[in-house]
Amino acid sequence: MIYQIYPRSFQDSNGDGIGDLAGIEARLDYISRLGVDAIWLSPIFPSPMADFGYDVADYCSIEPIFGDLAQFDRLLAAVHARGLKLLLDFVPNHTSDRHPWFVESRSSRQAPKRDWYIWRDAAPGGRPPNNWISDFGGSSWEWDEETEQYYLHAFLKEQPDLNWRNPEVREAMSDVLRFWLDRGVDGFRIDVLWHIVKHQAFPDNPLNPHWTADTRERDKLLQVHSTDQPEAHTYSSDMRRLADSYGDRVLVGEIFLPNERHARWYGTPEHPQVHMPFNFQLIESAWDAAVLGRVITEYEASLPAGGWPNWVLGSHDAPRIAARIGEAQARIAAMLLLTLRGTPTLYQGDELGIGEVPIPDDRMRDPQHFREPERGIGRDRSRTPMPWDKSANAGFSTAEPWLPLNPDWPQRNVSEQEADARSLLQFYRQLLGLRREHLALSIGSFELIHSINDTLVFRRTYEGEELVVALNLGSEPRLCEFPGWERTDAVLASVLGAGMFTGTLQPDEGLILQLRPGH
Ligand code: NOJ
Repeated sequence: MIYQIYPRSFQDSNGDGIGDLAGIEARLDYISRLGVDAIWLSPIFPSPMADFGYDVADYCSIEPIFGDLAQFDRLLAAVHARGLKLLLDFVPNHTSDRHPWFVESRSSRQAPKRDWYIWRDAAPGGRPPNNWISDFGGSSWEWDEETEQYYLHAFLKEQPDLNWRNPEVREAMSDVLRFWLDRGVDGFRIDVLWHIVKHQAFPDNPLNPHWTADTRERDKLLQVHSTDQPEAHTYSSDMRRLADSYGDRVLVGEIFLPNERHARWYGTPEHPQVHMPFNFQLIESAWDAAVLGRVITEYEASLPAGGWPNWVLGSHDAPRIAARIGEAQARIAAMLLLTLRGTPTLYQGDELGIGEVPIPDDRMRDPQHFREPERGIGRDRSRTPMPWDKSANAGFSTAEPWLPLNPDWPQRNVSEQEADARSLLQFYRQLLGLRREHLALSIGSFELIHSINDTLVFRRTYEGEELVVALNLGSEPRLCEFPGWERTDAVLASVLGAGMFTGTLQPDEGLILQLRPGH
């Protein structure tokens, strides 16, 4: 299990209202008690914070708000001392516009690093070179007055895209990976990996026939020519080769694509790419048994031989799961996440069931909100500080936190939930413990039994152990009989904390059932 930390919001140690590395170190026992295997840190590198760290101004140093390299080394050692792994966030598609590489690149058309970024002449009439739309809305092209060309930015204009077709860029980025691997990090989550190469001729992207005005501007076009190019696969297998040369390291790619194209990012046995292309389908799909049943089976079927699955339930980019499906179903989601085949990723705070956090207008920070304010797509409500206890500012900081806390923090915090055997936090711990004890839950085979009538039921089997996970995704009692249900031996976990299985699921109930060997 991977636990995602959003460093600005985990724990502040120096009273500036923003989390930092020393804060994370101080909370490692919490993470270790949760029972996770690895921590992924969202970017901690020097950054003007136009996109809160996803605009990197120096790949080989630490943002002073977060600490310094010595503090990073202490944190890494402390993580390793607890038997945990540490993954950093590698942001290859773009840098900050303040990165010295870009400063040099934009200084003149003759600058040695001009070609490190993507510069193009204006189209007739001074228009941008093509119709590409930034993920944050508006054209992907920004005009540079000084040198009279446009540069490409798939995200903010403060995040110019690197030119990965340039071998010097690839070498510089390999050096970045080596810098951290040499320091001992266990791998990387790679930001928007499928974006890193664009079509060489920069053709217009086709219109998306399904776009409607209430969805994001980005989705007006299909990103056919601006993403998922063949060369990006080549470069991702280069990254894998580099990581493999360090031994036991892992690469996780942030990739949003339909199954068939998504699966290609595993690569082939001869040319492996990332170990795990992040699978966001639990976030993207309707919370409905039939839909999820289909999503799980189709995803499983799409995996290449030996491709290890993974499931992500939340992130700093997505609405909180408890806000989306409600508190009762958030427990079902926990059970689902931790009983599916493959590596689960849990986002900080979801283990507490943090739900909707209203952010007053004057406290909004996310550029995604400011670019398209009318759409309600700001990500601040998923980035609020961890509530640790009942003390001032929830124990997160001695100062006013950079974003507001969840409104129910005096009750919904780590210390309250540690003291309550029935809390979501304790449930996560129990599920993680079970997952370790019963290999059927992690590496066992997966078989969907049914996904109808609000119930999602599947079997996990490993070396003679047969477990059935039965989830009620609705708020009515549901009959839930399946072949062999009478063989129920034990209820290993129950969302509601009840005892026996009677062939019926209570509203919002989920169970992990152990079956006696069948014949
Ligand atoms: C994906 C990151 O998760 C998101 O937070 C960021 O805004 C974009 N990449 C751009 O780097």
